[in-house]
Amino acid sequence: MKIYAHRGSAGTHPENTISAFKAAAALPIFGVEFDVHMTKDGELVVIHDEKIDRTSNGQGFIKDMTLSQLEAYDFGAWYSQKCRGEKIPTLREVLYVFKDTHHHINIELKSDIFPYEGMEDKVIEMLQDYRLTNRVVVSSFNHEVIQSFKRKAPNIETAILFMEVMIAPHKYADLVGADALHAFFPTVIRKMGHDAVASGKKVRVFTVNEEAYVDMLEEIGIDAIFTDYPKKIYEYLNKR
Ligand code: G3P
Ligand code: MG
Repeated sequence: MKIYAHRGSAGTHPENTISAFKAAAALPIFGVEFDVHMTKDGELVVIHDEKIDRTSNGQGFIKDMTLSQLEAYDFGAWYSQKCRGEKIPTLREVLYVFKDTHHHINIELKSDIFPYEGMEDKVIEMLQDYRLTNRVVVSSFNHEVIQSFKRKAPNIETAILFMEVMIAPHKYADLVGADALHAFFPTVIRKMGHDAVASGKKVRVFTVNEEAYVDMLEEIGIDAIFTDYPKKIYEYLNKR
């Protein structure tokens, strides 16, 4: 079972910060996952929510602030006073952390609510700059953006994210132009999960923090999990 560190290592560090990514980069796990939004001045930044309220000492939508405005806020202190001083990372800064590691990189495009015009082109350009096109999978709950991404960059792996039990999501993925399926944990326990695995497409599951569930997913043939506790799950898998 492959392990992706979810939002860096969200269970042990402030999510989607450079310290979380450095912790993930130091682990002998398969990969890392993080979320991308776009600022008012067109910069790509790594953060989960549309607003900065939950994970910083500021307030407001990413889309309404410039990068330099965002850089005035602290993205670590909400998690622990010991983590004070974390800035919002840009996509470029996060890719730099993994530039020379072995980790597979899952970039989740968070254009679910706001369309973030031009986001796909900027991501493609940056991945080409870093020569990372063959070490990433680009995913989104917004399947229109995955369809458009695949048309622009057919050689970059794509995945659809979804929360529901679906009938033959692997066939739907072909319609979208997605190579892999990123499914919400309970959905893959059903027949759907088995059918998707049998189709030959990679099925990766979020967010799995319990060791007992890892065993269940392995039996189904799930390729990988996203977890907030990558070190804990890695150690569990290695001592079984
Ligand atoms: O990409 C897997 C997972 O991160 C999707 O959900 O809300 O944690 O971004 P979320
Ligand atoms: Mg995510």
